[in-house]
Amino acid sequence: MTTPRPEIIVGDITRLNVDAIVNAANSTLLGGGGVDGAIHRAAGPDLLEACRKIGGCPTGEARITPGYNLPASHVIHTVGPVWKGGGGAEAALLTACYTNSLALANDSEADIQSIAFPAISTGVYGYPPEKAAPLAITACKAWLTLNKPPQRIVLCCFSDDSAAQHVAALEEAYPQ
Ligand code: APR
Repeated sequence: MTTPRPEIIVGDITRLNVDAIVNAANSTLLGGGGVDGAIHRAAGPDLLEACRKIGGCPTGEARITPGYNLPASHVIHTVGPVWKGGGGAEAALLTACYTNSLALANDSEADIQSIAFPAISTGVYGYPPEKAAPLAITACKAWLTLNKPPQRIVLCCFSDDSAAQHVAALEEAYPQ
């Protein structure tokens, strides 16, 4: 049985009609710029209220809230590592963001069958996209190999360049 593949698209994650979208948040969970800002704007103020009640999230971990005004019924907030040159735990923490978000999607009673990720940490947090994309693909493939997956894992890139990095990593991880 071949391992299912994640899908790679270019688009605005706030518009995706999936069960859960993943937010590249910061550890306060109180919003910010980038995809975090876009998700909060689209979801509306109730999202911030729900995040306030959670009270933060450590780097590499994930928390779930409703999606409110988003097409997605849920938001999984994860906190990526800030790139500090690669000598520390950045790769392990970025991998953990994907793995913990997928585990949370599977565990939550929300019955999440489709989940979309942005390219976590590759914006404000400065993670080199060419290093982040293979970690994202490898983490998704490992999950899809070992677990009852969400039926669809979408990597929602915000530029053609970001998508190209993910396509190259996908071809590497799933040789023909
Ligand atoms: N849809 C999909 N992807 C998006 C969107 C969007 N609407 N907006 C931005 N992105 C992409 C960026 O182009 C980048 O590839 O999301 C990826 C992650 O970039 P950031 O949003 O800057 O997130 P990150 O690098 O993880 O930094 C997180 O930024 O916004 C703050 O509060 C956030 O402090 C946290 C930090």
